Amino acid sequence: MTVNDKGIHQPGEDASRARPHRSSARATQIRQQLAVLSDRFRSSYLDCFQRLQERTLDEQEVPAIVGDVTAELEDLGLRYQAGQITEAGLAYGRTQIRDLLQRLVDGCELTTQTRRTIDRLVVDSLPRSLLSAPGRYTQDWFSFHEEHWRRHFGHLAGQPGLQAVEIGSFEGRSACWIVQNLLIGENSRLICIDPFADYPGQEANFDHNVRAAGCAERIVKIRGRSQQLLPYLAAGSYDFIYVDGSHEVLDVLQDAAMCWRLVRPGGLLVFDDYEHSLFPNSFGMSAGPAIDTFLGLVKGQYELIFQDWQVAVRKNRRSHGIRPLGRPV
Ligand SMILES: C[S@@+](CC[C@H](N)C(=O)[O-])C[C@H]1O[C@@H](n2cnc3c(N)ncnc32)[C@H](O)[C@@H]1O
Repeated sequence: MTVNDKGIHQPGEDASRARPHRSSARATQIRQQLAVLSDRFRSSYLDCFQRLQERTLDEQEVPAIVGDVTAELEDLGLRYQAGQITEAGLAYGRTQIRDLLQRLVDGCELTTQTRRTIDRLVVDSLPRSLLSAPGRYTQDWFSFHEEHWRRHFGHLAGQPGLQAVEIGSFEGRSACWIVQNLLIGENSRLICIDPFADYPGQEANFDHNVRAAGCAERIVKIRGRSQQLLPYLAAGSYDFIYVDGSHEVLDVLQDAAMCWRLVRPGGLLVFDDYEHSLFPNSFGMSAGPAIDTFLGLVKGQYELIFQDWQVAVRKNRRSHGIRPLGRPV
């Protein structure tokens, strides 16, 4: 098998047609980078999420939880300074903690003082500071997939007229990589769908990054939720779709079903976060159960390319859409 100097497989060399990749080694490696919360905090965090969901969390407990959060944030900072976790890991851990704090604010009646403490933690201790990597990025959810993607999707590089969609573009990191590494053939383009509402300035950072990477001409940005926008895209027209938007289980299922209609026969559909470092099959946050359900519905109509932290499938050249429930194929 020949690989050029960018690590890209030459046309005709399609690594994904080799054995499907079910290795959990890659998932373990990624988990090690991202699961930065201490074991003790992580287990009380999961418990807290569970009880928030069941509405059994006693509001009297919130100050103690906020105390744990403060200690965990300090610990994360120290471990980062000591070189024990990466900058991307630190940013990821802080985002998870911010998510918990937001849920406490949304789900509990808080005293003014607790509310102020949380606001201070969010504003002071969790700054939306940019990572030191080039570009305006506050998160890195993608770079650890680059080598794997090059190996499995590199055969696309240079093909003319490729049409791709990304659901969930955030600050454009994966979008720029896709454009710079896969969509380099003439007339190829990527549609990026995102509400760009995670934090003020997210969309401006996306625009900046896409421009700075020289990708603007190949990207069509559409602001909004995929569940509302995907029905407007043309069926059977896309060569490559990356699903990395909402992680709510029913949203993922809906995205999967709608994208299946959009992928052309022979096209690729890729899901992120099949495994999740923090929410194993629970809290409606892991994409895994939705992806499993979807794959069950289209069984026999795809070729599995890999299934580890992410899942990638190739739609069969002959595919019949989603199988009616309860009827044998
Ligand atoms: C994990 S980030 C995407 C990261 C990006 N793919 C990357 O690797 O750089 C998830 C993104 O999904 C977006 N999102 C959330 N709900 C969405 C929805 N219903 N439709 C489209 N995007 C959504 C969020 O705004 C966020 O930017």
